[in-house]
Amino acid sequence: MERLQKVIAHAGVASRRKAEEMIKQGKVKVNGKVETELGTKVSPNDDVEVEGVPLVKEVPVYYLLYKPRGVISSVKDDKGRKVVTDFLPEVEERIFPVGRLDYDTSGVLLLTNDGEFANLLMHPRHEIDKVYIAKTKGIPTPDQLKNLKKGVTVDGEYMKAVHSKLVSADSKKNTAIVQIILHEGKNRQVRRMFEALGYPVDKLKRERYGSITLQGMNAGDYRALKPHEVKLLRQAAEENVE
Ligand code: URA
Repeated sequence: MERLQKVIAHAGVASRRKAEEMIKQGKVKVNGKVETELGTKVSPNDDVEVEGVPLVKEVPVYYLLYKPRGVISSVKDDKGRKVVTDFLPEVEERIFPVGRLDYDTSGVLLLTNDGEFANLLMHPRHEIDKVYIAKTKGIPTPDQLKNLKKGVTVDGEYMKAVHSKLVSADSKKNTAIVQIILHEGKNRQVRRMFEALGYPVDKLKRERYGSITLQGMNAGDYRALKPHEVKLLRQAAEENVE
């Protein structure tokens, strides 16, 4: 038996908090009857409906995609552009990306139909390392990179890195390769942080998400996460709750 809000979150329909709201608002039915009690427990045999739509009882699945550049981190696009789920055509479950990478950013992207797992990983308090490699126009100084750890305010939003270092520099071309590690996942965070320093990002790739890397993969490849990898990610997120 599981709590109703958890079952709804697992199905990827809404976050747990949103599910709680919907229950309170009378938008959820269990076996055909409106259920507004948050503590209600349901079993896999119960039929749950959210806003008239039956929950599909799917087994949770977890995938890693090496997202190429030029793809939207979404399950559909109004303008018909390529979306990340186009790269996993054999997956029948209703998967969605865990957070997003920009259209022009490549790298590690997790996809799942487990909404609760996604919410757990995305919470900045859970301190999952997200490791990025960026090519910048101009060469940041060691002090400037250090300052990213103290934090910068960009467009009124405070954001900081956990770590940042210069990997290499090409003084002729006036470009640099830098590594930056974040726990936060604010919109276009890496690009905005470097832009604020005066070094626009030309190319950006997420190399690692927690313990998950792109080892042995090419852009556009995907694979199922191994059960122990899912467990490690979950543990990393749960351990780090402050
Ligand atoms: N930071 C960015 O600027 N873009 C991404 O896609 C991810 C992190």
